Amino acid sequence: MEFLQNTWYFAAWGADIEPGKLFARTLLGKPLVFFRPSGGAVVALDDRCAHRAAPLSMGRLDGDRVVCGYHGLEFDGSGACVRNPHPSGRIPAAARVRSYPVVERHTGLWIWLGDEAADPALIPDFSKLDDTGPSVTRRDHMVMDAAYDLIVDNLLDCSHTSFLHEGILGNQPMIAAPTEVRQSGRTLNVIRTARNVPPPGMFDMLFRQDGAPVDCWTDFRWDPPSCLLLDVGVTPPGRPKEEGTGYFGTHILTPETERTTHYQFAATRWNIRAGSETEEMRQKISDLRRFAFEEQDEPMIRAQQRIIDLTPPHELKRVLLETDAGVVHWRRIIDEMIAAERRPSERLAVGA
Ligand code: FES
Repeated sequence: MEFLQNTWYFAAWGADIEPGKLFARTLLGKPLVFFRPSGGAVVALDDRCAHRAAPLSMGRLDGDRVVCGYHGLEFDGSGACVRNPHPSGRIPAAARVRSYPVVERHTGLWIWLGDEAADPALIPDFSKLDDTGPSVTRRDHMVMDAAYDLIVDNLLDCSHTSFLHEGILGNQPMIAAPTEVRQSGRTLNVIRTARNVPPPGMFDMLFRQDGAPVDCWTDFRWDPPSCLLLDVGVTPPGRPKEEGTGYFGTHILTPETERTTHYQFAATRWNIRAGSETEEMRQKISDLRRFAFEEQDEPMIRAQQRIIDLTPPHELKRVLLETDAGVVHWRRIIDEMIAAERRPSERLAVGA
């Protein structure tokens, strides 16, 4: 699988990188080590010592230097070797590891792994996460045992909620909702609204808790390569959104390898109903969402991945349903961007 390189990927939640500690994570098949120097800005280096390729994450931090745990070479935040503890003290010119641009924004760490200049203005807007108060659920993370593209497909075809998440996030009457796609530059919105339907369990819990019919919408924003923000909620039938409640669900995917994916998620509530602003409710929403992703989505997508891997490519003819409109769009855009990356002069033209 080919990944887009010149783009921002979500590396980790900012809180994952604790002062004085090394943090290892593999992104796009590349082992990386992160740390937070005393100056505050997080550093990302290849997790591979220049001497004999030992993972630097198995060493230790000495101030703002990483000390390799194998033979003791020391590297600074730029990746330069700054100390050889052995008798000559000589530092070979090639003794350095690659460092990568990192920006801490919206409580997450964004990393640029490509060779082009990194422009922080290209980081998608996840300012819904800026609120560090109780309206945001747990900032969560899991690794899914499947390629990232199958998970984007899952998210951009929300009709699966009527089957895979029936009772929690969807139900059978919601199947009737049409799928609409809007494109603005490289950003997509995939929108479905189910009218006058029973409320899915999660939203009955957040709204009136009486099972009375609602209009229920999902509006999934996708930004390349795999950054998704879901506007989801319920309101009384025929009434404006403002009379209902819901949340902005963050779903940010970063390939770990070709067949595994980091899934970062949280939810930012709005119009929180009186009595449901408690820590207990916050935990309940966090747990329910994790259950849906970990116990319902992940086993299905993992099994789907296994079947795809066992099937000869010429037998993988897939039919399209009307609910696949968003899937078709995002795949077309990302394929164009990856193709343009092979032809640098075309890069700026794609989706502009
Ligand atoms: Fe790091 Fe030898 S492998 S110093």
